[in-house]
Amino acid sequence: MSDPFRITIEEAAALLRGGKLCAFPTETVYGLGADATNPDAVLAIYETKGRPRFNPLIVHCADLAMAERFARFSPLARELAEKFWPGPLSLVLPLSEGNGLADIATAGLDTVALRVPDHPLALDLLRATDLPLAAPSANPSGKLSPTTAAQVHKGFAGRVPVLDGGPCKAGVESTILAIAEDRLIQLRAGALSREAVEAATGRPVEQAEEGAAISAPGMLLSHYAPNATMRLNTTPMPGEAYLAYGELAPHNSLVRNLSETADLHEAARNLFSMLHELDAMGAQMIAVAPIPETGLGEAINDRLRRAAAPRT
Ligand code: TXA
Ligand code: MG
Repeated sequence: MSDPFRITIEEAAALLRGGKLCAFPTETVYGLGADATNPDAVLAIYETKGRPRFNPLIVHCADLAMAERFARFSPLARELAEKFWPGPLSLVLPLSEGNGLADIATAGLDTVALRVPDHPLALDLLRATDLPLAAPSANPSGKLSPTTAAQVHKGFAGRVPVLDGGPCKAGVESTILAIAEDRLIQLRAGALSREAVEAATGRPVEQAEEGAAISAPGMLLSHYAPNATMRLNTTPMPGEAYLAYGELAPHNSLVRNLSETADLHEAARNLFSMLHELDAMGAQMIAVAPIPETGLGEAINDRLRRAAAPRT
């Protein structure tokens, strides 16, 4: 590589296939991309952005056929994809069986946001890797979304390789739509106007708060939460399951240990799958060990607090 931060498609594809991050252009903003099937690669997005919470990420695909490997498309979903892809529309759809996506990419939800970006380099990269790419905007948490390679380079102080595709033409993020039966619910306003969607489908687009819950089954958009009741920063009482962290004192609980060696990266990787496992084993109450509030610990604790919050 002549300039390690200005790279070719082949170099970018090799990085992504090797589980590394690479920023790439889309028609909306630059994305910080990672292989969405590789949990460690997805976690590196959070570590690099310094993002204090695990949000579900948008998974970018080369085309509708690739997207169909990961989600179930209703006729209405397929109609939207055929009309607006490639383009600035992300569709939140139910995950398909055996989708292979890392659960950290979907933040443990049973839905996934998918889109096919309308940028020749992004599409070349997606075809070259043949991987679904999770990509939030390529900026440190709390900073503006970048629309040029130079902004990405500067934002991460040169630590992230960037595929340079010139300035983004839209400059605002994609519109996010959830599809519940035959209803269209806009979760985020973005580069594709609501009017364009309404004109193309002949259906009204309802407005939802970003992250709000909508009522149709399987379309809970808020946050993954286990069925069990959770108590945080504690040790288990008799009868409670235990989500442990670090060295374990003798116990007689149903236990999953996020990381025996108290490694926050390992804990983050295990978080959603272990909660799902304890749920599947029928735990009614889960005590959760204290997790340090540093590095990825901040995002882990954020998720645990949301999972433990009283449900309405
Ligand atoms: O234009 C864009 O969409 C850019 C470029 C890089 O493609 N990407 C982007 O990604 O804005 P990100 O990660 O910043 O935004 C993801 C948004 C979050 O607000 C998240 O809550 C929502 O998508 N989202 C993702 N998956 C979801 C799901 N399964 N259910 C509900 N919302 C979801
Ligand atoms: Mg963003």
